[in-house]
Amino acid sequence: MVPSVNWSYPTAIRFGAGRLSELPVACATAGISRPLFVTDRGLAGLPIATRALDILEAAGLGRALFAEVDPNPNEKNLAEGIEAYRRGGHDGVIAFGGGSGLDLGKLIAFMKGQTRPIWDFEDVDDWWTRADPSVIAPIIAVPTTAGTGSEVGRAGVITNSATHIKKIIFHPKILPVITICDPELTVGMPKVITVGTGMDAFAHNLEAFSSPFYHPMSQGIAVEGMRLVKDNLPRVAEDGTDLEARAHMMSAAAMGAVAFQKGLGAIHSLSHPIGAIYNTHHGMTNAVVIPTVLKFNRPAIEDRIAKAAAYLDIPGGFDGFYDFVIDLRAELGVPDKLKDLGVGTERIDEMVDMALADPTAGGNPVKLTKENTRALFEAAIG
Ligand SMILES: NC(=O)c1ccc[n+]([C@@H]2O[C@H](COP(=O)([O-])OP(=O)(O)OC[C@H]3O[C@@H](n4cnc5c(N)ncnc54)[C@H](O)[C@@H]3O)[C@@H](O)[C@H]2O)c1
Ligand SMILES: [Fe+2]
Repeated sequence: MVPSVNWSYPTAIRFGAGRLSELPVACATAGISRPLFVTDRGLAGLPIATRALDILEAAGLGRALFAEVDPNPNEKNLAEGIEAYRRGGHDGVIAFGGGSGLDLGKLIAFMKGQTRPIWDFEDVDDWWTRADPSVIAPIIAVPTTAGTGSEVGRAGVITNSATHIKKIIFHPKILPVITICDPELTVGMPKVITVGTGMDAFAHNLEAFSSPFYHPMSQGIAVEGMRLVKDNLPRVAEDGTDLEARAHMMSAAAMGAVAFQKGLGAIHSLSHPIGAIYNTHHGMTNAVVIPTVLKFNRPAIEDRIAKAAAYLDIPGGFDGFYDFVIDLRAELGVPDKLKDLGVGTERIDEMVDMALADPTAGGNPVKLTKENTRALFEAAIG
């Protein structure tokens, strides 16, 4: 049988150290003359954001900044951002940051001209066709972490501040027109964010690789993405100024996000409710639950993980791969259990329902049920 599937890897990426200086060229290519620079509050005070604004100003593009972005951005941040965009008469967005700044910037560009509420564009069926594509502003993405891969993605994640539930908003035109991947921007990331975001990239590649759907391009990208994390995450955790390793981690992050078009799985299904309820860092939460999910999925993925292990130069097939993950986590200082992140079992019923309703649940190689999902949470919480 010949599979029938939709594939899309279309982002233009300018990749390399110092290429932040190409922001003005990127604006010209994207047809932006009055950009709104969107980032989170923390980054707005750092020299990398100032440098970007200086580059824009020197090129006559102004230095309009919107930085009212929370770590898990919500619809209030979005409303304020849209207001700033309209007030400033902007014609495009530069989304600068980790997943939070990137996603909010992308969603401002998407929503600034729509008439329906953001929740109408959740990634469900073909809801994205409800949007008017002619009023979506062009986006330039500049990642400052190496994890989410949002810089190459067609979705933005936004938290509903009333329910604390994260929603994925999807539209093909949320894809940035141009992405600048400049590893120099990630050099100042504190170790805990370096590790958390790096393990998010690993989880994306691993879950994409393990998901049962047909997508050989993603399969190839995912296994090389895992190798890049294996060889480079310990290096950047040890020495944050190792620019070459930082660059490889930026690649691994972008690769994880293009690969997860193939699907994610239970690592993310568990991590999303935990992040929503306990406000833990997304990537660090993933890092804690990876071994529990790997063991659970073993019957369905043993052979394919053995192939990945061989490519990653890890002896011992599935068991070797599992031990490698345990050792990597220990080396990076990732806690063993979710209880070490302050997660308890008191809201486990709610978390099970949320995990099963999460869009990633369907991509897990072993079917998730109420019983096995509860058991996964119990094992991961510890
Ligand atoms: N769009 C997607 O496909 C996608 C995928 C996964 C996760 N997400 C979302 O992304 C968010 C998480 O993103 P993240 O892990 O990149 O973290 P983040 O964007 O929340 O950033 C974490 C912290 O690191 C700081 N920071 C970022 N870059 C820095 C740098 N270079 N130097 C110093 N500090 C820096 C930020 O100011 C912030 O305080 C979550 O909201 C998650 O839901 C989106
Ligand atoms: Fe993730």
